[in-house]
Amino acid sequence: MEAVAERDDVFEKEVAALERAKTALRNEDLPAEERLKEFATLTRHYEKLLRQATKLTRLGDGYQRKMLLAFEEIDRQKSELAALDNEKNEFLGIVAHDLKNPLNIIGGYIAMILEEDDMDAAERAGYLRKAAEASRRMLELIRNLLDVNAIERGQMAFQAEPCDLAGFASQVVDAYRPAAAAKDQTIHYAAPPQRVVAVADESILTQLCDNLLSNAVKYSARGKDIWVTVSAEDDAVLYEVRDEGPGISEDDQKKLFGKFARLSARPTGGEHSTGLGLSIVKRLTEAMNGSVACVSRLGEGSRFILRFPRSAQG
Ligand SMILES: Nc1ncnc2c1ncn2[C@@H]1O[C@H](COP(=O)(O)OP(=O)(O)OP(=O)(O)O)[C@@H](O)[C@H]1O
Ligand SMILES: [Mg+2]
Repeated sequence: MEAVAERDDVFEKEVAALERAKTALRNEDLPAEERLKEFATLTRHYEKLLRQATKLTRLGDGYQRKMLLAFEEIDRQKSELAALDNEKNEFLGIVAHDLKNPLNIIGGYIAMILEEDDMDAAERAGYLRKAAEASRRMLELIRNLLDVNAIERGQMAFQAEPCDLAGFASQVVDAYRPAAAAKDQTIHYAAPPQRVVAVADESILTQLCDNLLSNAVKYSARGKDIWVTVSAEDDAVLYEVRDEGPGISEDDQKKLFGKFARLSARPTGGEHSTGLGLSIVKRLTEAMNGSVACVSRLGEGSRFILRFPRSAQG
C-alpha cells in the first residue's frame, strides 16, 4: 500500500508541474526565451508521466497474468474435488451394498433360529455356520477397505527384508489346493531348486501371492488347470500365476487394477467378489519397489506376473 501511495504522490507532483508549465505558456506576454524554457519543462514532465504510465501498464499485465493462473488453479482444484466427491459417493454406495447383503443373511438365519423352537441341532449348526461365513465376508471387506485407506494415506507399515519367495508361494499353493479340488481344478507348482530370495515384507508377500491365486481359482471353470511358477532373473524374482479361465478383454484390462473393478468375468463357484484384490496388489507391490503385470486375451486364459527386487543373498 505504501508503494501505491508513493506512486500516486509522484503522479500528483508531475501533473502539478505540467499544469504550471501549461498556465505559463498561456501567458501571451511571456518572452520567447521563457516560452521555450516552459515548453521544455512541459515536454520533460509529459515524458516522465508517459514512462510512469508504461510501467504501470506492465505491472497491471503481470497482475492480470497472475490472476489468470490463480483462476486456472482454482478451476483445477474444483474439478479434482468434484472427482473425489464422485469417487467417495460411488465408494459409499458399493460398501453399503456389500455390507447390506451379508448383514441380511445373518439377520435372516438368526430370525429362523429364534422362531423355530424345535429346530434340530444339526440344522441350527448349519444356519450358524452360514451366518459365521457371512460375518467373515463382512470382516474381509472391511479389512480390505482399511488396507486401501492405509496405503493411500501412506500409513501402511512395511518391513522389506530378504525372504524366500518359493517358500511362501508353495505355502499359498497348499492353502488353495482344497478350494481348487472342490472345483476339480489342478494347481501345478514349479520353482527352481535353489533359493529365490526377494526383498519384500513377508506377510504382504503372502497376501499378494494369495490374491492372484485366489482369482485364478475363482474365475476358472471346473476342471481347469492352474500353473504357479517362481523364477529368478539377474536382479529380480518372479511369481507367476497362469490359468485357463475366461481371459480378460483389452477394455477390462484398463480397469483391472482400479478400485471396485468387478469386471466381465464372474466367480464360477459362488465365491465372493468385491473388486478390491488387484487394486491392493498393485499398490502394495509398487510400494515394495516391485511391479505387477497381466498378459491376457479374451477366451485364452490369463497370466499375472509379480516381480520383486532380488536380494543379494540368493
Ligand atoms: N484370473 C482372472 N481371470 C479372469 N478375470 C479376472 C481374473 N482375475 C481378476 N479378474 C477380473 O478382474 C476383476 C477384479 O479382480 P480383483 O481381484 O481386484 O477383485 P475380485 O476378485 O472381484 O474381489 P476381491 O476383492 O475379493 O479380490 C474381477 O472381478 C474379475 O472380473
Ligand atoms: Mg480377487
